[in-house]
Amino acid sequence: MTTSVPSGTRAWLPIAADCILAIAIVASAFGAMASSIPDRDALLGSIALAAVRGSIAVFTAEFALRAWAAIQKGHGATYVASFAGAIDLAVVLPGWAALFSDALASAAGIAGILALLKLWRFLPALAILGAVLMREGKALAAALAAMLVLLALVSTFMFHLEREAQPEIFRSIPHALWWGIVTMATVGYGDMAPVTLAGRVFGGLTMTLGIAMFAVPAGIIATGFADELRKREVMVTWRSVARVPLFSRLDANRVSEIAGMLKPGIVPAHSVIVRRGDAADAMFFVMEGEVEVELQPHPVRLGPGEFFGEMALVSGLRRNATVSSVTECRLLRLHVADFRRLAEANPEILDEIRKVAAGRAGRDGEQATPGR
Ligand code: CMP
Repeated sequence: MTTSVPSGTRAWLPIAADCILAIAIVASAFGAMASSIPDRDALLGSIALAAVRGSIAVFTAEFALRAWAAIQKGHGATYVASFAGAIDLAVVLPGWAALFSDALASAAGIAGILALLKLWRFLPALAILGAVLMREGKALAAALAAMLVLLALVSTFMFHLEREAQPEIFRSIPHALWWGIVTMATVGYGDMAPVTLAGRVFGGLTMTLGIAMFAVPAGIIATGFADELRKREVMVTWRSVARVPLFSRLDANRVSEIAGMLKPGIVPAHSVIVRRGDAADAMFFVMEGEVEVELQPHPVRLGPGEFFGEMALVSGLRRNATVSSVTECRLLRLHVADFRRLAEANPEILDEIRKVAAGRAGRDGEQATPGR
């Protein structure tokens, strides 16, 4: 069995396009920031202008190509209405408008920074964060609402505690809101601080409450992030399991059940996965890559869709051969306890595994006694 090597003919093209795009994004942000320096010298000014114009040219070409590709596939409107398409357009339009009108220069500056959002294409973690924010939207909105209510309460209370001692600083409840935000966020600029004893005690309490309140959305996002990562891992495993010939006839529920039992893992090239004579605690399914079963006189190679390590589980004996990775492999590992559960719930799968194991044992017997 040969490992598939990606054809190298035009493989560099997407990599080159990504590099150019990444450079343009950085140049755009740099240009927007440098252009805002009022007393910049002439050289910095020209570099910033070149960075802005160059990046707009790249983004325009990118937008045109993406729109063209989407139209070819029949969903041009979907692209422009999508988050990615909207950002692509919002970055390009103000840039072009600023070329014709100086009044729009600040809009172009904001759009230049907005280009940083394009980085989400390079950072999958940002897409995960987006999914978490969407999914946990209600919980985050509830946490935000609770914070706003608390902010209004503490600011009003502090206004009444301090208004007599500092009428110029705590002039009104809206003025006190600034104190509330700065204190709850525990930033404490010091431009508004209570001077009365009651005000200080209440200020201390507000800070403590602020830490607790800010921990709530942080916790929601952290848990959501972990859930999303787990969900994606299960999805990937589900797809992998559905592709294994042994499970291909099962319905989606059974596949999900099995996906929960299989633990994905990557094994580097030339690593021993199971060793002859060892006790067995799992069997493995090859998803990607190739493994070699060290048999005499001819080793056997197994590739995607095939499994190994089943013989010891079926027979209850020790490993009958050493199996190593030839290339880097993506494997799914089925622990012996899960193997038993799987076999109990799906006797037809156990039968198939037994058949394969028996066939292999027969061949191993022939190999061990050549000339028969
Ligand atoms: P196990 O004995 O648990 O561990 C070594 C594994 O090598 C064994 O299970 C089989 O999965 C695999 N193996 C042994 N003999 C052969 C063979 N002839 N062809 C393919 N795989 C084999």
